[in-house]
Amino acid sequence: MLNSQPTLETLLNHRSVRKYTGEPISDDMLTAILEAGRAVSTSSYLQAASVIRVVDATKRTALRQVSCDMSADEYEQALADGKRLGHGYVESCAEYLVFCADAYRHHALADVNTDWTEVLLIGAIDVALMAQNMLAAAESLGLGGVFIGSLRNDIARASQVLDLPKHVVPLFGLCLGHPDWESKINQSQRPRLPLDVLVSVDTYQTPSDEALSAYNDEVKAYYHGRGLDLDWKTQIAQTFGGDVRPFMLDYLQSQGFAKR
Ligand SMILES: Cc1cc2nc3c(=O)[nH]c(=O)nc-3n(C[C@H](O)[C@H](O)[C@H](O)COP(=O)(O)O)c2cc1C
Repeated sequence: MLNSQPTLETLLNHRSVRKYTGEPISDDMLTAILEAGRAVSTSSYLQAASVIRVVDATKRTALRQVSCDMSADEYEQALADGKRLGHGYVESCAEYLVFCADAYRHHALADVNTDWTEVLLIGAIDVALMAQNMLAAAESLGLGGVFIGSLRNDIARASQVLDLPKHVVPLFGLCLGHPDWESKINQSQRPRLPLDVLVSVDTYQTPSDEALSAYNDEVKAYYHGRGLDLDWKTQIAQTFGGDVRPFMLDYLQSQGFAKR
């Protein structure tokens, strides 16, 4: 029987874990994590999520290259130049799971249209809930992990690497492993928005400028403690300030999603 932490303690202790000891995840643990994902609620009993375990080292490397936003050639060149490359945990984690919104089975079994935007939302929600169940289960077993949305930097290449058919799109990955708690990168919890900004009652409560600014200062102080000159406002601008993966709609439509 596996030992697991209580649910609330596990959830409140969450932090992303990006450095691992190298110890493999036992079959028992892996099965428990996958079963926790399988048991999750699913919209209209549609079960519109699939998981791919990426165990092939070459595929892991290719997916790391996608996360680094580099072609294979650019990646090799950067390695040869001795540059520090990110997302090493995609290769070094014990398990790398890729979560896909999946309407393939619905096509195979029933004559249906799944090109509505709503179907993609259903898939994305099912995927996110399943993935979070798995991460929470892993954390309750003393493991750690981090989601990998940078898989969508080149979503078409990621799909090719995983040989995905039409009606299946990869949304994000999940690295899992035994945490290296000695590593600073795993140690701190990132401050979240306070409850009075996060939660409204009955109607949406727009946050005051003061509340947003106070939270921004809290994030700045958190990063300062980690030796970084960064705040939440800057991070938002870095992510949403320019084009945001503008190829996405064309890709989704080529896979049979979000046409209307
Ligand atoms: C859908 C999703 C995608 C993410 N993608 C990445 C990623 O590509 N690389 C990474 O290092 N972290 C990624 N993260 C982790 C977030 O950066 C992290 O959850 C956030 O900064 C809060 O930190 P915490 O999880 O330690 O509390 C992702 C998280 C989510 C939920």
